[in-house]
Amino acid sequence: MTQIALVTGANKGIGFEIARLLLADGVKAIIGARSAELGEAAASSLGTSFVQLDVTDQASIEAAVKQIEAEHGALDILVNNAGIGGTWAAPSETTLDSMREVFDTNLFGVVAVTNAFLPLVRKAPAGRIVNVSSEVGSLALAGEPGTPMWDIKTLAYPASKTALNMVTLQYAKELNGTAVKVNAVTPGYCATDMTGHQPERTAAQGAAIAVKMALLSADGPTGAFFDDNGVVAW
Ligand SMILES: NC(=O)c1ccc[n+]([C@@H]2O[C@H](COP(=O)([O-])OP(=O)(O)OC[C@H]3O[C@@H](n4cnc5c(N)ncnc54)[C@H](OP(=O)(O)O)[C@@H]3O)[C@@H](O)[C@H]2O)c1
Repeated sequence: MTQIALVTGANKGIGFEIARLLLADGVKAIIGARSAELGEAAASSLGTSFVQLDVTDQASIEAAVKQIEAEHGALDILVNNAGIGGTWAAPSETTLDSMREVFDTNLFGVVAVTNAFLPLVRKAPAGRIVNVSSEVGSLALAGEPGTPMWDIKTLAYPASKTALNMVTLQYAKELNGTAVKVNAVTPGYCATDMTGHQPERTAAQGAAIAVKMALLSADGPTGAFFDDNGVVAW
């Protein structure tokens, strides 16, 4: 039976590539996007469907659950990809409002979407939840002098991804012993709107690890953090 996937923030960037690669693997990947216009355009370019989904808007999340439940009955794969970079101010210059904005999308949005879709994911024979985190959320890497992560000195985005890693682990523990696996991934530094298209690494390259964890077999891991090379230290 065809697997059904929902990718949040999939109208562009890494999310779009995750959806494209899942479709290429025979998964019916639905484009989640907060803008109907951008979401529909992305979905039609991939020959798939779209659901309006703003991860910070509970009504929009609930409507998306109803739509997917009515059309498919269950959800095999949930990729929590939607994210924002926010303002990269020094810690001492960071406002609570700017932190709340980033946490609303990158952390609370993931919790809201996951809790709303979990009943549908549990109905799937082998549910997979993939949280798109970042290596800048790794406490181990951030605390290692001489690394690129050491040089990052800002609060909102890295802390939102550190918290997302903990959220990933806690869901994995709750769901341990069920068919649902929950993992975090880091795509690496990729050329997207978020990074001003600076890096050479493409969004498709960044998407690959999320796709791999979305398609894990029953003996695959749960409750861990991965990049292309394997496990990343929390
Ligand atoms: N690019 C990198 O180097 C990199 C590295 C590590 C991790 N990541 C993570 O990868 C994920 C994708 O980032 P990207 O680089 O592809 O960024 P991007 O090109 O800016 O795309 C972000 C996507 O998230 C969507 N989004 C933002 N807020 C949303 C909301 N409230 N509800 C629904 N969708 C929302 C955006 O929609 P709109 O088009 O409507 O804004 C867009 O579709 C993020 O979680 C990011 O933190 C990226």
